[in-house]
Amino acid sequence: MGKTAVVANVAVLLARMGKRVLILDADLGLANIDVVFGLAPGYNLNHFFAEEQELDDILVEGPMGIKILPAGSGVQRFTRLSANEKMRLLEALDAMHNDFDFVLIDTEAGISENVTYFNTAAHEILVVTTPEPTAITDAYALMKLLSTQYHEKHFNLIVNFIKNEEEALDVYRKLTMVANRYLDISIDYIGSIPRDKMMIDAIRKQQVMVELYPDSKTSSAFAALARSIMQEPQSIEPKGSIQFFWKRLLDFGSK
Ligand SMILES: Nc1ncnc2c1ncn2[C@@H]1O[C@H](COP(=O)(O)OP(=O)(O)OP(=O)(O)O)[C@@H](O)[C@H]1O
Ligand SMILES: [Mg+2]
Repeated sequence: MGKTAVVANVAVLLARMGKRVLILDADLGLANIDVVFGLAPGYNLNHFFAEEQELDDILVEGPMGIKILPAGSGVQRFTRLSANEKMRLLEALDAMHNDFDFVLIDTEAGISENVTYFNTAAHEILVVTTPEPTAITDAYALMKLLSTQYHEKHFNLIVNFIKNEEEALDVYRKLTMVANRYLDISIDYIGSIPRDKMMIDAIRKQQVMVELYPDSKTSSAFAALARSIMQEPQSIEPKGSIQFFWKRLLDFGSK
């Protein structure tokens, strides 16, 4: 829990650091990035997939010039994208790849086909979990599926809802211990976010934490997270390029 919060807050922080950010709301079953930013987009990805709108036409602007591709809500039609829909999305995104330094993809929970699809398309995979045993199990299940079925070897872990840093490290230790034993993967711990009731307040006010309470401990945690995401080695392609992302999409399409 906390994927959407992480995406929204990190997006604002990256934009503040001068990065051009696109958020792809890939929670196609139940969208919420637009709600988090207090936006009411007229069109969304449903219109794109229905071939009623082009991707450019559904792009909306959030805080700090962040661009968002909203998923819309309530429409259950795209819980599983067809090969053709994936290809259309890929081509349309490819046409705008020079406009952005970071593309953040917010997925739905679980291990549905859309979730695995967007994860394998991404350059880096960020797994958001909490100290809850069920959440840890879910995080492990996702990494297991992505490594055994899709050959993903590297994951970045974020632990949300923590009481203290020790709790986050404990989650990391637990996951790496099982992963080392049963899976051929590496997990990088890239940060934690405290449990903070002001997060609920932020949702209610339809503003992100780092804007509403920039001096809070939670906002500092998001800032540290954004810094480590900025520092991720972008090894394959020149720094800042998201072309690699699209190559991966293509590779995946041909698997
Ligand atoms: N660290 C936190 N402290 C307190 N509340 C939080 C924290 N992180 C998230 N929340 C709250 O929990 C709820 C779910 O968070 P969020 O929508 O970011 O999770 P999600 O993983 O995207 O969920 P979903 O799988 O439904 O998309 C929101 O109301 C959010 O404000
Ligand atoms: Mg979400």
